Amino acid sequence: MAHRGLLIVFEGLDRSGKSTQVKLLADALNLKNLKSEIWRYPNRDTSIGGLINDYLGKKIELEDHAVHLLFSANRWETVSEMKRKLNSGINLIVDRYAYSGVAYTSAKEGFELEWCKQCDTGLPKPDLVFFMDTKIDELEKRQHFGEERYENIEFQKKVYSNFKKLFNFENLEDCLVLNARDTIDNLHQIIFKKTFEMIKNENFLTNKFSFL
Ligand code: TMP
Ligand code: MG
Repeated sequence: MAHRGLLIVFEGLDRSGKSTQVKLLADALNLKNLKSEIWRYPNRDTSIGGLINDYLGKKIELEDHAVHLLFSANRWETVSEMKRKLNSGINLIVDRYAYSGVAYTSAKEGFELEWCKQCDTGLPKPDLVFFMDTKIDELEKRQHFGEERYENIEFQKKVYSNFKKLFNFENLEDCLVLNARDTIDNLHQIIFKKTFEMIKNENFLTNKFSFL
């Protein structure tokens, strides 16, 4: 019986190089005939995603709880499609997931990590998470930083410390922490090796999902 695809998630601060690595990984897997697709959250193509896009682009204001639930709803609205693809053997390489949801909202005043986690409980759990670890003061130098809501250094510092609370940075089982200052090619080699090992590990792969 064919194995299901892997759910691989990239997390990190804004402009930390996630999208570059997501693309490199998907291309490299496809080259090896390991069918892979790039996904991203927020998925700005749905009507919920459109609202989120306007909010991030500072065109509209939304209440903080409401926007948190919209980000989560934006994952839930695509979950059947996600499972369908994974079950048909396609690897999904995902740029942000529920961890961003929790790390960003809980950086706001008055939000507990546990409350923020609730609405994503029951989503498929990633098989592998890569965290792009950036030096916060370097973010400002990246192209386009500051254009969208949340792209300011004070806020990003809080988000970073929330990511640290979410992932055990010492435990490779939870998440592989990558030094985002390394070269694009070195990072890609590390990411590809880890992913390829997992794909080839018959003991690891079952057709079942775990859930958040
Ligand atoms: P992007 O830059 O990866 O498109 O993400 C847009 C912003 O949305 C980014 O600042 C992180 C934030 N975000 C949340 O606040 N909650 C979420 O659930 C997700 C997926 C992203
Ligand atoms: Mg961004």
